Amino acid sequence: MQTDFLVIGSGIAGLTYALKTAKQFPDKKVLVITKTNADETNTKYAQGGIAGVWDEDKDSFDKHIDDTLIAGDGLCNKHIVEIVVKEGPERIREMIEYGANFDKNESGDYALGREGGHSEYRILHHKDVTGKEMERALLHEVAATPNIEINNHCFVIDIITQHHLGYLVTKSTLDITCFGVYILNLTTNKIEKVLSHFTLLATGGCGQAYRTTTNPKIATGDGIAMVYRAKGRIENMEFIQFHPTALFEPGVSPSFLITEAVRGDGGILRNKNGEAFMEKYDARKDLAPRDIVARAIDNEMKISGTEHVYLDCRHMGKEKFIHHFPNIYEKCLSIGIDVTQHMIPVAPAAHYSCGGIKTDEHARTSIQNLYACGECASTGLHGANRLASNSLLEAMVFAHRAFLDIFTRLENAETLAASAFAENIGNAIPDWNAKGTSDPREMILITQSQKELQQIMSDYVGIVRSDIRLQRAMKRLDLLFEETENLYRNTKVSPQLCELRNIITVGYLIVKGAEFRKESIGLHFNTDHPLKSELLQNIIL
Ligand code: FAD
Ligand code: SIN
Repeated sequence: MQTDFLVIGSGIAGLTYALKTAKQFPDKKVLVITKTNADETNTKYAQGGIAGVWDEDKDSFDKHIDDTLIAGDGLCNKHIVEIVVKEGPERIREMIEYGANFDKNESGDYALGREGGHSEYRILHHKDVTGKEMERALLHEVAATPNIEINNHCFVIDIITQHHLGYLVTKSTLDITCFGVYILNLTTNKIEKVLSHFTLLATGGCGQAYRTTTNPKIATGDGIAMVYRAKGRIENMEFIQFHPTALFEPGVSPSFLITEAVRGDGGILRNKNGEAFMEKYDARKDLAPRDIVARAIDNEMKISGTEHVYLDCRHMGKEKFIHHFPNIYEKCLSIGIDVTQHMIPVAPAAHYSCGGIKTDEHARTSIQNLYACGECASTGLHGANRLASNSLLEAMVFAHRAFLDIFTRLENAETLAASAFAENIGNAIPDWNAKGTSDPREMILITQSQKELQQIMSDYVGIVRSDIRLQRAMKRLDLLFEETENLYRNTKVSPQLCELRNIITVGYLIVKGAEFRKESIGLHFNTDHPLKSELLQNIIL
């Protein structure tokens, strides 16, 4: 299969890029590949909203930039922060043009929300289901764009580089080039190669590396693992963001999120004795940045020996609560919690990967013709801790920038050269070699290994880390890695096996990053190195 533009992922990042590219090149084909249904993405579950400077009387670019830099604890790339904040409102306007409905107040202006770390009200939202609304609008626009094709239920196994043509490719190879991907087509059960001059990875996050996560099952860090295997650069993986307030519901996975916007509207965290504890930890109390709030909750849980704390919304007013948070109200009611009468039990859950595939300001990866944006990318925006509601914004800004970069390259006489490419390189790329593999004898081994991985990461590489915990994690991951690679060599590939392999790689990258970072900063807190070093650096693997 050959396409002009190849997009892996149908969340906000992939679809934004696909729309822009398809509209600019109406005679070219844009192929979007997604491993389950098109709307099953992290994007769909986003609640709080998308941050952007909207009310220019009260807010300013400088304030949003400062808030982002403060949350990032000194490790953000200021140039990238400025790009995202300044270009953000234009991208949000485009989202509105695609048909996304954001809530308005009685005077007809957008009703702006606030979350942890924001000094102003600047978050556009649709009730407490903003992501679902944005994904709906994007898919609707895609359906009306004839030159975009979405292939659902196609699992991308690996990106194709000159390694597949028989060349030795190492981390020091300068011109590693992406020619497309191998996919497992789950409808035909065949492995196919999809070739393209330009490939964009928009494969989302990796919350599934942890036992308790807000991320859906698809979030297994596939893009990050693929780039690492292809010898591309990965950065800052130790910064896994734990959302402070996931609904505590033992045995339920993924965890249901209680958006930070609830605290923005006045919700108060309390410990098991009913004490509002955040003032002990930070002057910004319940609206401190996420790393601080999650660590405070972790500490309160350790002190009291409980598995959760409470979010108190009883004083917020029923009508107001239901108006802004109808989904949360219904969900809580469905498990016997009337938020106007009872406090909501909450605990932190793995939520967002601040690091990922290292990209530049044009969304280029270290591999030629391979771009990345959205949660799988590390652009430099988030530093050591992401500011709430900055990720949907970042995804749109860099989807646009990837499109612009490719457009400029094509304007400057670079051609898609489809036929020459197909003849010269496409034909030389071998079909997938499944020789020597057989059907898995026990699928349960794969499930068990994934559970083990999640257990290891949650027990040893969670909110608070130490050198010995990281060493333990690495030893156990080594064994899982060896067992899984063995299985991979001898077994026919399946999405489950590939996801296991990917999430083990991601676990390895998180632990490796955490081991290299001999300091505590942002989301990475190591009791053996409690202070921030003076020379802040990104950790590139
Ligand atoms: P996703 O939306 O996750 O899409 C990933 C796509 O890649 C999917 O289509 C998937 O099928 C595809 N894919 C992955 N691997 C493969 C493979 N191997 N083969 C084929 N396809 C593949 N951020 C905010 O800014 N504001 C919020 O309010 C907010 N709330 C959130 C609430 C929750 C519960 C969660 C989980 C996240 C929230 N976030 C929020 C974070 C934000 O939603 C995500 O970071 C963002 O949506 C990621 O978008 P994306 O396009 O990069 O990836
Ligand atoms: C939330 O609604 O609390 C999540 C926002 C985010 O992850 O940015």
